[in-house]
Amino acid sequence: MAGLDRNFTDELRARLSVVDVVGRVVPLTRKGQNYWGCCPFHNEKTPSFSVNEEKGFYHCFGCGEHGDIISFTMKHNNMDFRAAITELANQAGLKMPDYKPRDPNIVRHEDNLFDICEKASLSYAEKLFTPDGAHALEYVRKRGFSDDMIKKYRIGYAPKNNLIANKFAESKYLIQSGLCRRGEYGLYDFFRDKLMFPIFNANGRVVAFSGRSLDGSEPKYINTGDTDIFHKRKTVFGLNFARDAIHRANRSIIVEGQIDAIKMQINGFPETVAPLGTALTEDHIALLCKSNRNITFCFDGDAAGQKAAQRACGIIIPFLRDTSDVKFAFVSGGKDPDEILKSGGIDAMKKIIDDAIPLVDYLWQITNSNFLITTPGGRSQAEKFLKKELDKITDPDLKSEFEKEYNARKFNTWHKWKKSNISVNIKLPDIDTITKNTLIYIVNTYPELVEKYVDFLGTLGIDFDGIAPVLNLSLEAAEKYIVSLKLQRYLERLNIQKREFTNQLLAGNDAAREEIAKIDEEIQKYTEKLEILISI
Ligand code: UTP
Ligand code: MN
Repeated sequence: MAGLDRNFTDELRARLSVVDVVGRVVPLTRKGQNYWGCCPFHNEKTPSFSVNEEKGFYHCFGCGEHGDIISFTMKHNNMDFRAAITELANQAGLKMPDYKPRDPNIVRHEDNLFDICEKASLSYAEKLFTPDGAHALEYVRKRGFSDDMIKKYRIGYAPKNNLIANKFAESKYLIQSGLCRRGEYGLYDFFRDKLMFPIFNANGRVVAFSGRSLDGSEPKYINTGDTDIFHKRKTVFGLNFARDAIHRANRSIIVEGQIDAIKMQINGFPETVAPLGTALTEDHIALLCKSNRNITFCFDGDAAGQKAAQRACGIIIPFLRDTSDVKFAFVSGGKDPDEILKSGGIDAMKKIIDDAIPLVDYLWQITNSNFLITTPGGRSQAEKFLKKELDKITDPDLKSEFEKEYNARKFNTWHKWKKSNISVNIKLPDIDTITKNTLIYIVNTYPELVEKYVDFLGTLGIDFDGIAPVLNLSLEAAEKYIVSLKLQRYLERLNIQKREFTNQLLAGNDAAREEIAKIDEEIQKYTEKLEILISI
């Protein structure tokens, strides 16, 4: 690889979708499993150039060209390897690593680690179907796993004894892979009497394991510690299976637990993944965002879930674009997606996902629940919090739209409450019959006026389908009629308001005095308007 760190090219392949890279220059249409377009490498009028997201490859059935994002960029732009990598790093928003020849010892070392993890995974999988693993098999089946699911996710069983330490005694990588530890009497297995979930990297290689306790002992789950091939903070559980679906669904769903992720994937939400352990990191989000920036978080409805959701909200804001669709769903009743799917099926889960709260509303919600916004101090804290979060938005237009949105909300809910103790409910008298008939005539004769005054006409509570008496009204006169009625109704409303506030003032509410003064001003202004209108 011409001296380039293989990790970096893997990172590029993981971050960039082949459909996006090719799709930038070749119009693609999805048909079945593949995307199709006209081959850029030979002349053709009907598409025989296919792109497979899952495999990360393109292939032309016309001229036989095929390869991945790197070979595509090299060939299409007539670039050498290094230039292509630079271009792709640009597209992925990654900094080019310093050029240094990749140490063949490290490559060999990593291959050895992959190798032992793969072997261990096969041994665990085999054990699940032996008498030793009978209780684990019974458990996993009781949890709703079919044999197909067990096979697909390569679920296994780590027995109570030293399966790995004994079976692979000659391997030098048992400790470095996290599979074994050294004790007083030599190596012993880290995972014992556990239901084993292999953790795959983005390329589908086993890099670590998550073991669930079967006897109720704590902790419930133990995971392989970080190794040279496994970095917990950078690994998303289920991504290798979900990648194509994330593209197809144009979104990803993040749940809290790995069993939840598996159950979601099998039950109609193949675009679901989970972080490892509860802490979501920026790296997890960055990994998902390379496919698209539409993420639905699905958290438990309890306090811990709320806390995790708020954390996630803070982490994802820097990734927002104006095309992003980020939402927060909550599973209530102390349940998780696995339990919802079991008790209510796919429909119950779909409802939860469909009801997810958009980020703009969720951020507003947490701002209001975390601070005492009925006090100046609380509002000041809330302002600081919102500012800090919105400052993370990189697109200035998007940031400004968020600010405007929240300014309106602040005005409506933070400041309006002050007036709420003297607000009044107003019911205007019904429209009389003559006015009603006139309006019905106007509505049926001059549709252009309906369009113009639809909001006002809608407030009158009239059934305009009634029979229209024939009148002699020009368009101009009709419009004047509507406008003057509108002014009269508004004045009526102001007068009722004034009466209400006068009563409140008499009842000792001094705040009403100011309101009455404002209303008087308004009444005067609109009476003048009405007089002018009638006089012309
Ligand atoms: P939960 O405690 O919600 O468990 O932890 P769960 O996923 O519902 O597990 P099941 O259904 O009882 O098997 C959520 C996630 O947090 C991590 C695991 O990844 C788990 O899936 N976790 C939890 C740990 O890493 N260690 C633990 O001890 C517990
Ligand atoms: Mn669970």
